[in-house]
Amino acid sequence: MERQNKEEDKKIDIKETQVWKAVFGDLLFGEFKPLSPFNSLMRGIAKIMQLHPYNMSVGGRRIITYTFCLGGLSVFFFSLLACTGAFLMIYYNPDVNSAYANIEDMRYIVPFGVLIRNMHRWTAHLMVMFVALHMLRVFLTAAYKPPRELNWIVGVILLVMTLLASFTGYLLPWDQLAYWGVTIGTSMGENAPLLGAKGPFAILAPGKDVNSILVGGTSVGQPTLLRFYLLHAIAIPLGIAGLMGFHFWRIRRAGGVSGPL
Ligand code: HEM
Repeated sequence: MERQNKEEDKKIDIKETQVWKAVFGDLLFGEFKPLSPFNSLMRGIAKIMQLHPYNMSVGGRRIITYTFCLGGLSVFFFSLLACTGAFLMIYYNPDVNSAYANIEDMRYIVPFGVLIRNMHRWTAHLMVMFVALHMLRVFLTAAYKPPRELNWIVGVILLVMTLLASFTGYLLPWDQLAYWGVTIGTSMGENAPLLGAKGPFAILAPGKDVNSILVGGTSVGQPTLLRFYLLHAIAIPLGIAGLMGFHFWRIRRAGGVSGPL
């Protein structure tokens, strides 16, 4: 009898584990947490007609020096990248015979081309920097703790996707720097664990590793340019936009930003 009781004690209710709560928690059926003063501002925005709350606490104002708007600025840079990128798409063709000339045209012929291109490039650097700083802020304020663990994981994926967007964009000018930079970058994939043909846990046949999938052959060429272009201009931005929506929804579900209220 005693033994049976002990065994029952050992049984773990999966729904009570931290992992379950983090992933599913209030995902579908949970209640919204009561709103903090800062989040009443957000509710105001959601109601559109009421852009600002009628009143705001002193604590509510401290949110600026708590988050430094680093996440918000990352969203802003992402939007700017989407707008300038859409403009660049008009003049750019992912073809090894014309890509470099397209970029030259953008610099010397297209009205405001050099401005838009540089805005795109500098904003990309800024986005990487601000996403990393945002991550540091979240870490230093311990905002990764329950109930925000899942959002930390979503954030890590967002960081990786931001870096991938930069890496894939690097090849598009099709100059020497781009060509050799990407040759080195993709060849690192050969040594990747599990998916690399030369890596410690190579499980795929040589010639079918992560490097050759990225490159689309044995060396960087037309298939690489097309793959990188599609990843850079369509797949990654859509992925980031979708995940950002999920990120914000999770923040809302956690009752808003963690502090300092
Ligand atoms: C494209 C990249 C990202 C965007 C656009 C973004 C956006 C945001 C925004 C707007 C907020 C609200 C608070 C604030 O502005 O600081 C936020 C909060 C949060 N972010 Fe991100 N984020 C990104 C990447 C990351 C990364 C890399 C991590 C961590 C690995 C992360 C983890 C979190 C967490 C845990 C919160 C809740 C913080 C709290 O409640 O204090 N995010 N994010």
